[in-house]
Amino acid sequence: MTHTLIYPSHSRHGASGHLEIDGCDVVDLAAEFGTPLFIYEEKTLEDQCRRYQEAFRARTDDFEVIYASKAFCCLAVCQLVEREGMSIDVSSGGEYHTALASGFPTHRIFFHGNNKTEAELRYALENGVGFVVVDSFDELRLLERLAAERGEVQRVLLRITPGVEAHTHEYIQTGQLDSKFGFGLVEGQAEEAIRLALEAAHLDPIGVHAHIGSQIFELEGFRRAIAVLVDLIKRTHDSLGFDCRYVNVGGGLGIRYTESDVPVTIDEYVDCKVRGVQEEMARVGLPMPRVLVEPGRSLVGKAGITAYRVGTMKEVPGIRAYLSVDGGMSDNIRPMLYDARYEAMIADRADDELDTLVTVAGKHCESSDILIKDVMLSSPRVGDVLVLPATGAYCYAMASNYNGNPRPAVVMARDGKARVIVERETYDDLVARQLPLEGRG
Ligand code: LLP
Repeated sequence: MTHTLIYPSHSRHGASGHLEIDGCDVVDLAAEFGTPLFIYEEKTLEDQCRRYQEAFRARTDDFEVIYASKAFCCLAVCQLVEREGMSIDVSSGGEYHTALASGFPTHRIFFHGNNKTEAELRYALENGVGFVVVDSFDELRLLERLAAERGEVQRVLLRITPGVEAHTHEYIQTGQLDSKFGFGLVEGQAEEAIRLALEAAHLDPIGVHAHIGSQIFELEGFRRAIAVLVDLIKRTHDSLGFDCRYVNVGGGLGIRYTESDVPVTIDEYVDCKVRGVQEEMARVGLPMPRVLVEPGRSLVGKAGITAYRVGTMKEVPGIRAYLSVDGGMSDNIRPMLYDARYEAMIADRADDELDTLVTVAGKHCESSDILIKDVMLSSPRVGDVLVLPATGAYCYAMASNYNGNPRPAVVMARDGKARVIVERETYDDLVARQLPLEGRG
């Protein structure tokens, strides 16, 4: 098939000419479960987890691969990641709750966020969260107070902003100096955070963290961030006696959304990070710490596709043809928010020639609700199932109910069987937590 690079690994064009995901006919799935429908391929999820772990194992035995669950957080995926022996990072009380509800061991959970609320931190401490990645001086003080109240010592990492600009969309850069995240290096802020954490009787600062951004194709920025982190580790080792046992070098590996995207491989990415830490620690003469990475997109992005039903087609003579589907910005905000580019396929005619240029529009009342501007499809018709590949990360996770659209269902496909892992919302769900005006019952 032509699209293997961006579709889940076990997808193919079946005998009927339909797209199949690990033996499940996508046109049948759309009919059975309705559309829009997110379809994940379990084996691709497993393969991606294993690729990370194998790449590490080939280079070090002291590592941890942490799934950044913000990319897609649900019970089934937390369970799959746990089955694969990985850790998880959560960025809110809600994601932490989801991980706990999935049975995820709390000691393997890392809690992130630039403004974790007191309630969230209390919830995490009550449930014995493994690590809190502290992001600010205010949080440092708050966490020390909460841990003291409980008479416990909480393990923490300090989030450092290394002052490195990643080559990616401005909205998903996080490592630059002017960032809301973490402790910057100007005027000794990062050193000061480490000093305060060392002094805090109820905090155990076991390491540092840096995440410079997302959907990154070049290794250079990662390498520079590691050098900056290790310089800080060395300085604080010498001045404060800081014993840094964990170096969390974040996530950020980009994936292929279109055929022209060429990201580095997981192996190259892990090599850069492990070797980077090894070489930098050797340079400053300190022992090798545990190396942690936090991938989100590169674990789940390729594993998921979205199936829509084509509802209307409209020709603007001499300008363009619009093809409208039954979802859009409420299930995939990425094209509107980051100018993200996707490819598409008519699942009913996966083998056919691409002969028609269209613009794929969503159903929301916004002109910006365009999923793909200009894409070639095989003779699209009303009633067809249109698929967008590589929608496994940050699509369902960022879904909304805009225009009163219930969130789609999510199914997991394996060996010709698909089962629901997130049910489709209903219209009743939309009003379930709303209350009528007084007196109107
Ligand atoms: N660690 C931290 C602290 C993060 O903030 C993130 C992503 C990750 C790890 C995982 O990064 P990844 O491996 O997925 O690149 N909604 C945007 C992406 C936002 C990323 C937020 N942080 C998008 O759809 O492109």
